[in-house]
Amino acid sequence: MQKFILAIDQGTTSSRAIVFDGNRKIAGVGQKEFTQHFPQDGWVEHDPDEIWDSVVWSVKTALADAKVSAGDIAAIGITNQRETVVIWDKATGKPIHNAIVWQDRRTAAFCAALKKDGHEPLVTQRTGLLLDPYFSGTKVKWLLDTVEGARARADKGELAFGTVDSFLIWRLTGGKMHATDATNAGRTLLFDIGRNQWDEELCALLDVPMAILPEVKDCADDFGMAEAGLFGAAIPILGVAGDQHAATIGQACFAPGMVKSTYGTGCFALLNTGADMVPSQNRLLTTIAYRLDGKTTYALEGSIFIAGAAVQWIRDGLKLVKHAIETGPLARTADPSQNVYMVPAFVGLGAPWWDAEARGAIYGLTRNSGPAEIAKAALEAVCYQTRDLLEAMRKDWTGGGSETVLRVDGGMVASDWTMQFLADILNAPVDRPTILETTALGAAWLAGMKAGVWPGMADFADGWARDRRFEPAMDEATRKTKIAGWDDAVRRTLSS
Ligand code: G3P
Repeated sequence: MQKFILAIDQGTTSSRAIVFDGNRKIAGVGQKEFTQHFPQDGWVEHDPDEIWDSVVWSVKTALADAKVSAGDIAAIGITNQRETVVIWDKATGKPIHNAIVWQDRRTAAFCAALKKDGHEPLVTQRTGLLLDPYFSGTKVKWLLDTVEGARARADKGELAFGTVDSFLIWRLTGGKMHATDATNAGRTLLFDIGRNQWDEELCALLDVPMAILPEVKDCADDFGMAEAGLFGAAIPILGVAGDQHAATIGQACFAPGMVKSTYGTGCFALLNTGADMVPSQNRLLTTIAYRLDGKTTYALEGSIFIAGAAVQWIRDGLKLVKHAIETGPLARTADPSQNVYMVPAFVGLGAPWWDAEARGAIYGLTRNSGPAEIAKAALEAVCYQTRDLLEAMRKDWTGGGSETVLRVDGGMVASDWTMQFLADILNAPVDRPTILETTALGAAWLAGMKAGVWPGMADFADGWARDRRFEPAMDEATRKTKIAGWDDAVRRTLSS
């Protein structure tokens, strides 16, 4: 029996493909970065064709790296940057515009107007989200209103909307499947996460015709066949989840109270709340953790927009390091007596502030401050922001399991220095797993389990293994002083 599983992880800055063998070990990897377009202040776009090419290239590279052919792959699992919007022509598969990326702030004024008109409570009650440009719905409206002829074509049923997963499914299946999964649908502002269906009233509010929406499926489901012409043999697509949801699965956070935090471009913490849709009193999001066999498991989510992106800025913008991996060692050499804080609000601030107009700032610079202090401030900012999220979760969640330690993953967690500071600032242990590719692993599990070649949930959870636990070691007085300095920096950065 074919036993390999292919995970496609389409992220914000790169596309990756990973081939897992039957023992859930990585057999081959392909990865390609693609262009980030910043046409105006606060705008972020991707070229969907470049994304597609990077995915095809990554898959071919991963297959070659694993020395397997498409015929050896039992199933594909897709995971993706969420909320990013693509609209394409159903006849040609051609996008009508660049993808508008989740970080993009161009619909801030529209969101503010909707909020002012009192629509936020209904939106939050149905979708678990807030009226922030982060989510897909207002971006869809922007495209339909702005691209010439788009609205008329959408009304005639000629266009399809999708998050990146949908776009990839469409392309992989040669236009045979227009579908998404519940976790991605749940991030659009158009999907009622309680009733698990597109919401007519919200579509009307955001002026989005329902005809352009994809079919919503479970995370482990039949998403069609990737065409034989692409990789050499047809492969069933059996798993789909937004990247943060896939990471929650990959971290085996299956029990209520378990929490993971993923450090990619941004940082996203998800706390499993089981079958309960817990409303947040502290500006967190309520979201679908995953949907399996028609049964929805929910989560509370804290979303930080800039985490690894701050390191990328240090590398590419300031050119303080050549490789991202050098940031931790550089930070370690910083003068401990300096109190430099960076609030990386490059595209506004996410949870719990939700300030689309805020922009980044650095405080506490002296004549002695240099690259090391700035690198340290960038890494520390990610930890302070994680603390803000977990504090909000602690207040919102009374369901127990709070003794559970934070499971971390993503590129930044390779830095011991950063993880130790995180544990210190949280004043709680932090667990780093042996497999850091948890997002891809989660998508692979969905597909592998559906294909019947990987184990069920309990056995998969048993296989989760820790690489290292970071225990808090900072004294209380220092911790309090540092947090007070961070709180002050954030206050000074907020737009109002
Ligand atoms: O919500 C946006 C998120 O899905 C992006 O994830 O991994 O690119 O930071 P990442």
